[in-house]
Amino acid sequence: MLEISFAKPVAPKSGGVAILVAEGVVASKTGLAGVAGSVDKACDGAVLRALKAARFTGKKGSSCVVLAPGAGLSRVVAIGLGAGDKIDERGIEDAGGTAAAALANEETAAIAADELTRPQAASLAMGAVLRSYRFDLYRTKEKPEDKPKLATLTVLADDPAKSKAAFAPMQKVAEGVFLARDLVSEPGNILHPVEFADRLKPLSKLGLEIEILGPKEMKKLGFGAFLGVAQGSAIEPRMVVMKWLGASKGAKGKKPAKPVCFVGKGVTFDTGGISIKPAGGMEDMKWDMAGAGTVAGVMAALAGRQAKADVIGLVGLVENMPSGTAQRPGDVVTSASGQTIEVINTDAEGRLVLCDVLHYAQKQFDPALIVDLATLTGAIIIALGHEHAGMFANDDALAQKLEAAGKATAETVWRMPLGDAYDKQLKSDIADMKNVGGRPGGSITAACFIQRFIDKDRPWAHLDIAGTAWSSKDAPTVPKGATAFGVRLLDRMVAEHHEG
Ligand code: BES
Ligand code: MN
Ligand code: ZN
Repeated sequence: MLEISFAKPVAPKSGGVAILVAEGVVASKTGLAGVAGSVDKACDGAVLRALKAARFTGKKGSSCVVLAPGAGLSRVVAIGLGAGDKIDERGIEDAGGTAAAALANEETAAIAADELTRPQAASLAMGAVLRSYRFDLYRTKEKPEDKPKLATLTVLADDPAKSKAAFAPMQKVAEGVFLARDLVSEPGNILHPVEFADRLKPLSKLGLEIEILGPKEMKKLGFGAFLGVAQGSAIEPRMVVMKWLGASKGAKGKKPAKPVCFVGKGVTFDTGGISIKPAGGMEDMKWDMAGAGTVAGVMAALAGRQAKADVIGLVGLVENMPSGTAQRPGDVVTSASGQTIEVINTDAEGRLVLCDVLHYAQKQFDPALIVDLATLTGAIIIALGHEHAGMFANDDALAQKLEAAGKATAETVWRMPLGDAYDKQLKSDIADMKNVGGRPGGSITAACFIQRFIDKDRPWAHLDIAGTAWSSKDAPTVPKGATAFGVRLLDRMVAEHHEG
């Protein structure tokens, strides 16, 4: 992970420097101020001249690199902040991310945050760290000159000690994001259900209680739907329960509040099973465990920053394979709730996993609210593209909390409908329901299926993250690849509504 250090705002004498430039500053009479001004002065005005020549105006999202401007510096990167009165936490984070990318080839680099407040300086650092993520475990031949060099980024801030303190919990969240990205990036042959569960064991070092259940325990619990998916694979399924009791541990004598529950779909590879998927693009289905990756990541974040909340994360880990032991289209399975399901399409497996884990979560922990995350349907990509996750909720207050936390963290959700008219599409001729509702409203009927396993009056939201778990292009704080969508969103929701 990119290391962040905080130091007093003094213009650096070597390496790279990023400066933040609000709209209009370049053309103004006063020009650059603070560290940016000192840098420009040391370079005899070369920075400002270059920015003018490049017609850099400081527009939000823009940046301009000035190479070898003088004064021993190898590069100055100007990052546009947009109009001064519209600069928010998101914009600052994005600026940090853009700066980190532009400085990646420097050995030493600094970023001037002397014009920012303390929390803003911390957000700038957070953005830089989030952008610096790389998954290069399997690149053995990358030339050193192609690898990013930057190991430590110095944030130049007015009160380094206080900015550092503000950044400390953010760094723990970044560690959760990196854990989720690592898990999602791993291929299916390496990260199968057993390996995934094993990789969660060390989280106990953070103070999480980790419990792992295998097929024997699942059979006892009556997980017929989950085990039906697992039966085609040579590798055993796992369910992992991660408990973080950050509120009840500290509270003496007080009866702890009901916990928050997060549940993730963890299909470590989804071939479709006997209803097999086409070959083109099937490799993408290694990230069909992104919901589980996110739940693991958010639990690590909460424990890492010692959140004062009781939160329980559960993941259902399984591989969906075609084989002589695989379930057949038309099979009827009995879920842990007792409801029977006719499996029309073995590729609609995520809901079969979630229904048993969700039932268990509610019976075992009686949560105050439950949020599940799943790469559940291709249809949500058709509906919302890659810009929002689909959100389905039976509770307006919960939906609003998630919407707000999503906006604050750039992990945005868009609410979709539920309702009896859709739910009807799941009617089966021989069992309590079918596992598919046909093509119309595919994401909605999937959510309706899940809702059938949610207790009446239990606040619940389902996030369909099929379109947001993976990205094919760089964004300011999210390099292309696994996004860890949901880690920051859920961490923020807990921080804003379930602590203290
Ligand atoms: N894991 C897929 C959903 C998916 C598709 C995620 C594309 C990301 C990209 C899920 O298990 C699935 O196969 N869903 C089917 C449901 C259908 C059979 C009702 C789908 O979306 O096609
Ligand atoms: Mn599938
Ligand atoms: Zn799937």
